[in-house]
Amino acid sequence: MRIAVGCDHVGFLLKRAVVDHLKSRGHTVLDLGTDSGERTDYPLYGKAVAEAVASGACGLGVVLCGTGVGISIAANKVPGVRAVVCSEPYSALLSRRHNDTNVLAMGARVVGESLALMILDAFLAGEFEGGRHRARVDMLSALDRAREAGGEN
Ligand code: RB5
Repeated sequence: MRIAVGCDHVGFLLKRAVVDHLKSRGHTVLDLGTDSGERTDYPLYGKAVAEAVASGACGLGVVLCGTGVGISIAANKVPGVRAVVCSEPYSALLSRRHNDTNVLAMGARVVGESLALMILDAFLAGEFEGGRHRARVDMLSALDRAREAGGEN
């Protein structure tokens, strides 16, 4: 799969590990930066990864900042993106199965590298179950459409 990856300056070392891990598992990585510890702003990278996923250029995305919170909020501003911030594998797996999440966010100040890669593997292993969850995810998409239309939801 083609997977977009992005981070701020706090997440860039963890991004290296994530990129290497994804490549070792046969995925193609679109690395959208940042590439150093020089201070920058997480909304830039959350948006870039989210747009790569929402456009269909990438099937999934991974975003990293200090806590995973700021960059997940940024990603979730892009219609069509359902980003989840995780610090354990169970939520990563269930978010794929039940919520059809398409962007994983993690905090480089929260999880160590080994745990981050376990969370990533759980996220990749999950497949949307559809069924009763489909209507709920469709409701999320309706919220996106209402926001894009500038209407009430
Ligand atoms: C940067 O200091 C930090 O605020 C950022 O990496 C992230 O944790 C924000 O949610």
